[in-house]
Amino acid sequence: MHMKKISDRDEYVVYERMIGDWTYRFKSRFFCDESDTPSEVHQSTQIVPPSSMNLKPIDLPLRKDLGEAGCVFQSAVVLCNLLTDRNFVLHQYMNSQKKVVEVGSGTGVLGLAAAAVGATVCMTDLPHVLDQLRGNLQLYCSSNPLGEDLQSRCSVEQLTWGSESEAAHVGKADLILCSDCLYKEEVHRALLETLQALSHHDTLIVLSFEIRRAPIEANFIQQAGERFEVERFFQSMRDDHDVQLYYLRPRR
Ligand SMILES: C[S@@+](CC[C@H](N)C(=O)[O-])C[C@H]1O[C@@H](n2cnc3c(N)ncnc32)[C@H](O)[C@@H]1O
Repeated sequence: MHMKKISDRDEYVVYERMIGDWTYRFKSRFFCDESDTPSEVHQSTQIVPPSSMNLKPIDLPLRKDLGEAGCVFQSAVVLCNLLTDRNFVLHQYMNSQKKVVEVGSGTGVLGLAAAAVGATVCMTDLPHVLDQLRGNLQLYCSSNPLGEDLQSRCSVEQLTWGSESEAAHVGKADLILCSDCLYKEEVHRALLETLQALSHHDTLIVLSFEIRRAPIEANFIQQAGERFEVERFFQSMRDDHDVQLYYLRPRR
C-alpha cells in the first residue's frame, strides 16, 4: 500500500519529561493511505541533550517487537547526564583514546550519547537486537554533521552474556556501561562473567538500574562484591522511580 506522511504537523509529542538536564520525549507520527485516512502510526523516543552541549537529539524508533530491547529506559538517560557532567569521572572517558563498551545496549541511546560526547564506543547486545542498533547508529549519523566522525568511533558487536569467545572478540574496555540489565536473575552470573572478561586491571564499570525487585537487585550487588570493589555513588528517589548507580572496579 502506498503510504505518505500527512504533514510535519502530524508529529505529536505525546509525553515529555526532564531527566536531569536531558529531555525525554515520546512522539507519534501519523501516515495516511491514498484516501488520506490515517492508517499507520510511527512511535519514537527522542532524547535531547542540554542545549549548552550543542549535540543533536537522538531519535529512536519504537520497536515493540523487540520487547525490552526496543525501548529506552530511564536509567540510561540518568547516565547520559553523567557523561556530559564534568564533575563526574565518566566525563574523563569521553575521548577517542579510551575504549568504552556498552553491554545490553538495547536501542543504543547511551552508547550513541557517549559517542556524541567524544568517546570510542562499542555497543553490544543479543543477535536479534543488532539490526536495531546498526539502524539507530545509521539514523543518528545520517542526521548529524559530525556523522562520519561518529561512525568511525562507534561499532556494534554481538555479546551474549557468559560467552567467552564473544567477549574476547569485543576485547578489554577502559569503561563499561551497563544500564538496566539486572532484570533477569537467571543471567546475573553470566553478566558478571562478561563484565570480568571485558575488564583489565584499571577498568571502570558503571551500573545504572531502576529498583523494581529490590531483593534481586541487592543479590546482584552482593554477588558483584565477590568479584569487584563496589561503590554506590548515586541514588535518585522520586515518586515514580528509584534509579541507583554503582561503580565496580576489579579487585587488586
Ligand atoms: C531492559 S533493556 C535495557 C536497554 C538499555 N541498556 C537501556 O537502558 O535503555 C536490557 C537489554 O539487555 C539485553 N540482554 C538481555 N539478556 C541478555 C543476554 N543474556 N546477553 C546480552 N544482552 C542481553 C536485552 O536484549 C536488552 O537490550
